[in-house]
Amino acid sequence: MAEVLVITASPRKKSNSAKIAEELVKILQFKTSETVNINSLKITPCSACGSCVSSFSCVYKDDAPRLISKIKKAKVIIIASPVYFCGVPAPLKAFIDRNQPEWERHNKKTSTVNKKGIIILTAGGNEKKYFLPAKREIASMFAVNGIKTLKVLTFGGMDETGAAEKSRDIMKKIRAAAGSVNGLR
Ligand SMILES: Cc1cc2nc3c(=O)[nH]c(=O)nc-3n(C[C@H](O)[C@H](O)[C@H](O)COP(=O)(O)O)c2cc1C
Repeated sequence: MAEVLVITASPRKKSNSAKIAEELVKILQFKTSETVNINSLKITPCSACGSCVSSFSCVYKDDAPRLISKIKKAKVIIIASPVYFCGVPAPLKAFIDRNQPEWERHNKKTSTVNKKGIIILTAGGNEKKYFLPAKREIASMFAVNGIKTLKVLTFGGMDETGAAEKSRDIMKKIRAAAGSVNGLR
């Protein structure tokens, strides 16, 4: 069981959001970490069949329940995603929607808050409004899984592949952000 589970959502090979997550994990010195790219998984979109209302489980036995199990075992969960039309990319959104059984559990108050989460978002633009829907989508998924969002790190001007790696300012911002993440351990 890894101490920190990193879920990345970019389909790009030299992803800025994934690079930022990698740097943050290094700086925070977790004992063990596991990284999963959502694009490598098979996740069927929720069909709103309503089965999970009473069963608390999903009729689809694909990679989504497996990833939810990994989330349940990790202490810290980091989601690193690009912003697409202000929200998260479709594969990550499909996974978030498949957390409906966890929402049902949470709604019936059978879940507890005992985990920590960090959200990393990159976008082409810099305005705060571009990040808000994506932040809310991820934070609400965190909440139903008993994960407290400790920090939301947003990085604009990240269109160019490899921009995060090349920029000293970004690396500085990651180090500063790491220093300001309180309550992880
Ligand atoms: C389909 C698509 C939609 C996008 N929508 C937005 C957007 O709404 N606002 C924004 O500022 N950037 C937008 N972008 C730019 C990405 O968020 C940006 O390039 C991001 O830093 C890429 O991260 P990555 O390197 O981890 O893939 C979009 C890019 C794509 C491909």
